Amino acid sequence: MESSGAGGGGAMAGLQAAKRALRAELKRRLRALSESEKLRQARLLAAQQVVEHPKYQASSRIAVFLSMPDEVQTAEIIKDIFQRGKECFIPRYKPGGSHMDMIKLASYEEIASLPLTSWNIHQPADDDSREDALSMAGGLDLIFMPGLGFDKTGNRLGRGKGYYDTYLERCTHHPKGKPYTIALAFKEQICDMVPVTENDMKVDEILFESN
Ligand SMILES: Nc1ncnc2c1ncn2[C@@H]1O[C@H](COP(=O)(O)OP(=O)(O)OP(=O)(O)O)[C@@H](O)[C@H]1O
Ligand SMILES: [Mg+2]
Repeated sequence: MESSGAGGGGAMAGLQAAKRALRAELKRRLRALSESEKLRQARLLAAQQVVEHPKYQASSRIAVFLSMPDEVQTAEIIKDIFQRGKECFIPRYKPGGSHMDMIKLASYEEIASLPLTSWNIHQPADDDSREDALSMAGGLDLIFMPGLGFDKTGNRLGRGKGYYDTYLERCTHHPKGKPYTIALAFKEQICDMVPVTENDMKVDEILFESN
């Protein structure tokens, strides 16, 4: 008789292979998008869906990723967060694990002065002692989520490090509870079905251009 551990391991290996295959497919789709098309979709999401979103309008402590070239650009959203007097937090990743914190940003302009990581993303230095969102009672109200692919039930495929799954799990232990999560996606990132394992956290909502 097969033990549940071995059976679970086999199923798990299949899911990991399915995730790898879908990541490769999604990276191909993203490479095929022109810069102008990516910018068109990003502007549309920022100007229409985000700014008019009731959850966004009601949130005062918001975390958002600093976008890489193959992600929905978040610059306009960050500017809007500051214009509305909301508080903005950005990721600080620790290399070699799945630990990430969300650290307070003072202004949009400040981003350019932050050091670059090996992924060429700006983030506050390790010894930079600014506010960590979860160290305060306020926690976070809303997180804008990156990801490679999503399905319409909210399943998410990230880049394979588990940073966001681990972070959302930590948020559930914060007095404030789990923040509302909104993923930002190009329409090409929407899949019929995304394979998930038990650690994967669903997103509450996905914004993408729909007709
Ligand atoms: N809640 C968790 N606690 C500890 N480790 C976790 C947790 N969630 C995920 N991980 C680790 O992260 C690894 C990668 O997870 P997964 O394949 O879901 O990444 P991902 O969600 O695609 O990536 P990311 O969130 O960084 O964009 C898992 O195999 C696991 O080791
Ligand atoms: Mg995951």
